[in-house]
Amino acid sequence: MRAHPVAVFDSGLGGLTVLRALRGRLPKEDFFYFADTRFLPYGDRPEVFLRERGVLIAQALVERGAKALVIACNTATAAAAEAIRAVVDLPIVALEPGVKPAVALSKSGVIGVLATTRTLDSERFQRLVGNHAQQHRVIAQACPGLAEAIESLGPDSPEIGRLLDAFVQPLAAAGADVVVLGCTHYPWVAEGIARRMPPGTTLLDTGEAVAKQLERLLAAGDSLGGGSGLLTMATSGAPQQAIVTVDRLFGAKIHVEHWEP
Ligand code: DGL
Repeated sequence: MRAHPVAVFDSGLGGLTVLRALRGRLPKEDFFYFADTRFLPYGDRPEVFLRERGVLIAQALVERGAKALVIACNTATAAAAEAIRAVVDLPIVALEPGVKPAVALSKSGVIGVLATTRTLDSERFQRLVGNHAQQHRVIAQACPGLAEAIESLGPDSPEIGRLLDAFVQPLAAAGADVVVLGCTHYPWVAEGIARRMPPGTTLLDTGEAVAKQLERLLAAGDSLGGGSGLLTMATSGAPQQAIVTVDRLFGAKIHVEHWEP
């Protein structure tokens, strides 16, 4: 019998930065990755749309036989994690910007957060800052257009350079010494971000923490392992385009099927 996979989803292929960490830590798991590319970018969509879409996707993933769910998208977490937890009875790992570890690392007391407009506007993000960063100055910088540009143009395009100039400069000017990558697409442009910050700036992404949390949950439910590292991928957009983008970002030619939850 085929092992039940861990399902991972994002608005697109940003969640591959999380998948990389998951597969590195948990080589005995099978994974099913779903990119909801038809609706990329999530970052500019209304919260109610994202909540309904998130629940629909999560339920469809349960029907596909998933044994656990990773919401590899900060925006979908902010809008839909609670609604998904209310209806889906699986171990769920949801991502949120690493404000808490950033507070522990910052010496200047100034933290930069790069994320989508929807994530930064969410109640969940406001709570995160209120609970963990009250003594710090948090520069929350929305990055409209960046996730789509990473997917459609690739991390090294001149357009990305222009976007990063605009989004990263305010963090450097404010004296941030830690930059939280609060969208799973942004680790793909980490080099470009680091180049625009003073030397020694720490960039934080949450891939490793998510992998550890998934391992803990699977172990607690006695469902760790049992697979063979198989990766299956699907998109609600155009599979051919996804194959090219996955190859460009991930450095691997992987079959991507079309799937509409
Ligand atoms: N990758 C997503 C995140 O972590 C969102 C990108 C988007 O679709 O706007 O927030």
